[in-house]
Amino acid sequence: MTEITRDVVIIGAGAAGLTAANRLRTAGLSVAVLEARDRVGGRLWTDVIDGAMLELGGQWVSPDQDALKETIAELGLETFDRYREGDSVYVGPDGTASRFTGEMFPVSAETERVIDEITRRLDEMVAEIDPDRPYAHPKAAEWDTISWDAWLRQQTDDDEAVRNLAFATGSAMLTKPTHAFSLLQSLLMAASAGSYSHLVDADFILDKRVVGGLQQVPLLLAERLGDDVFLNQPVRTIEWSDAGVTAIADGMTVRARHAILAVAPVLYNRISFVPPLPRLQHQMHQHLSMGFVIKVHAVYDRPFWREAGLSGTAFSPYELSHEAYDNTNHGDERGTLVGFVSDRNADDLFRLSAAERRERILESLSHYYGPEAKNPVVYYESDWGSEEWTRGAYAASFDLGGLHRYGADLRTPVGPIRFACSDLAGAGYQHVDGAIRMGRLAAADIIEGGRS
Ligand code: FDA
Repeated sequence: MTEITRDVVIIGAGAAGLTAANRLRTAGLSVAVLEARDRVGGRLWTDVIDGAMLELGGQWVSPDQDALKETIAELGLETFDRYREGDSVYVGPDGTASRFTGEMFPVSAETERVIDEITRRLDEMVAEIDPDRPYAHPKAAEWDTISWDAWLRQQTDDDEAVRNLAFATGSAMLTKPTHAFSLLQSLLMAASAGSYSHLVDADFILDKRVVGGLQQVPLLLAERLGDDVFLNQPVRTIEWSDAGVTAIADGMTVRARHAILAVAPVLYNRISFVPPLPRLQHQMHQHLSMGFVIKVHAVYDRPFWREAGLSGTAFSPYELSHEAYDNTNHGDERGTLVGFVSDRNADDLFRLSAAERRERILESLSHYYGPEAKNPVVYYESDWGSEEWTRGAYAASFDLGGLHRYGADLRTPVGPIRFACSDLAGAGYQHVDGAIRMGRLAAADIIEGGRS
């Protein structure tokens, strides 16, 4: 068992932990980053599957994500636009596929009016929310004790309008059923991206990708840290007191003055804290849970949908794959589609065999793009739910009522332990941008002497 001593031990080599470690090193502090997996990046993972380079986790960058954009620029990475020329496709309640352009789905004039009116109301509510302090809004308790679905259904009895409004923060973001989280949680999700309108605008929220994949961000951040990143070191125990911490991993022990716990909050309870964390943390962490989404890649010998004038962008709250996009790599002759299957649909699919799952998902994609979608040359499902060191996707959110009850305490340090990850962010919440912001914040707190 190796034993080392550093100023700060960082647990988790995702975007949050590696950002914090780099900031601390630049400020002259010594660090050790302990990572459970045999790779860095956490929920950022670019891999080659059957000859196709696929981004299995996070990949898109939106214009509001300043922290991520700064990091990408600082690391010298190049970005490219998501392909978006041509028509989008919407599948309506009767299963009919319709082409459309712009942001509004091709629904009836009355449904369009209802969607517009509620979107305007939501944008006004979101404008009042400070993403770093959603719990401080005067109506936080009221908005946190009604589910997103129930609130929407109080606004209108137009089911198609409700489903289309609901899925922007439901299936597409928190990846939980819309009865399982609150209106306030939904408003936070929208506030973290600037407005509700931003979230529903695919051209905004899914704007750019990094050439070679977004995992290069953590890979390059880790490269700068060199031998201070230790892989295959799941931290099992953290002993802590006001004097410092001892992090005990499988093959090594790190003594430090401070710790940054940069792992998803659903994994905190995998670690034995000695002494145990305070009662508040024990309770609070039980009210945070991961969403669940399957990200599906289908690669074809060419982007055949472009020949039909389709952009590849497709939505339907009635389809198994509720959204899908052209995900062709930069400079690639082959065409790649990416589809998402969320929450209860994902549960149902994992009760089937792999062959049945594939058939059902490709059938759903064919409703958008035609029968050719059923014959990819490469097919892959990212299943983050089965990843021991993540356990879901994209990130964690509070259950009904949890955000106003515990939100103010989420990032509060415990002794020498600070918490950082995308799941705790305000701006950039659930995104890499939020992870970077949280990494910066935890590092700044230590550098500025919060507890040194
Ligand atoms: P992250 O989970 O990445 O890192 C934590 C690290 O801690 C992991 O490496 C883990 O192995 C390690 N760890 C856990 N327990 C440990 C222990 N006990 N000891 C040591 N190490 C431990 N975002 C975005 O901006 N654009 C997008 O398009 C998408 N899309 C997307 C798709 C999919 C499928 C996923 C899963 C996620 C996204 N996201 C995204 C979200 C984004 O990827 C995510 O928010 C951040 O990468 C999270 O970074 P963190 O550093 O906060 O946690």
